[in-house]
Amino acid sequence: MPEHDDIKTMKLYTNVERIQNELAARGMLESEYINPLSLCEVDSMHYKGMSAIEAVIAAMKLESSSTVLDIGSGFGGTARILSESSKCATTALELQRDIHEMAEYLTKKCRLENLVRHVSGDILTLDLDKLGGGIAFFDGVVSLLVFLHISDKRSLLEKCAKMLKPGGTLFVEDYYCRSPFSEDEVKSLMEDVYAFDLPTRDEYISHLEASGFHNIQFNDKTSEWTIYVQERVLKFVSNRSQFEDIHGEPTYLSLLHFYEAVAKLFSAQSLGGVRIIAKAK
Ligand SMILES: C[S@@+](CC[C@H](N)C(=O)[O-])C[C@H]1O[C@@H](n2cnc3c(N)ncnc32)[C@H](O)[C@@H]1O
Repeated sequence: MPEHDDIKTMKLYTNVERIQNELAARGMLESEYINPLSLCEVDSMHYKGMSAIEAVIAAMKLESSSTVLDIGSGFGGTARILSESSKCATTALELQRDIHEMAEYLTKKCRLENLVRHVSGDILTLDLDKLGGGIAFFDGVVSLLVFLHISDKRSLLEKCAKMLKPGGTLFVEDYYCRSPFSEDEVKSLMEDVYAFDLPTRDEYISHLEASGFHNIQFNDKTSEWTIYVQERVLKFVSNRSQFEDIHGEPTYLSLLHFYEAVAKLFSAQSLGGVRIIAKAK
């Protein structure tokens, strides 16, 4: 099993200062207040930005009394928009310290610190009492493009089930294995994406059931996401000079490598994308 800091081999997680560079370029760095919706292009590391978050709000039927746990919250964009839109209380758990600190800074800039609480730690090892009100406290658990980094799905899903109230909603976007990967794909998944031991559809569903979930929806997103990641490369390449003016060539090349690796994996069709919505018993 890889060590914690190994996740930094994935090029999306280096050059964290790119967020501040981007804010400066957009004239937002000096502002006393930033509208969280205006950060969506900057702070999101999942696919299809706002539309994924709108799907979370609808699936969880969020309102001001709701409590949500966002696992692997990254720069905190999802958590902020959930709370901004519905006034729910969101706990944002993030593994990487530098990303967690940037997320906290952005939440303060958006004046959402009363609704969004940031916690730094690993979902597999953290004392669950540190997350909001602890066990069976949350109406919803959301996690967008995080589980692919965690090979022990059973322990992970059992933690999710434990954190949810009975009848609470799990909303996950993740990768899965549609057909056996080639050796090169396994290597790329490991080195470029930091993804290991991706389950098949049937394995995923049986982990969910064994962890105490029912009413499981397994919505395949492969075609949609393949187009999304292919277009992301084209857009990134066509904006090269603008991007390099703000962030420099090394950051451009590093992100390009990551975006191309993901597009290649999806285009080969063994890698699948899924949106899972399930209920805790
Ligand atoms: C692709 S990013 C997605 C971030 C965020 N969900 C979003 O949609 O923008 C995955 C995030 O999961 C975090 N992560 C990975 N393993 C984790 C773990 N065991 N516990 C908590 N966070 C984790 C990573 O540090 C990274 O920030």
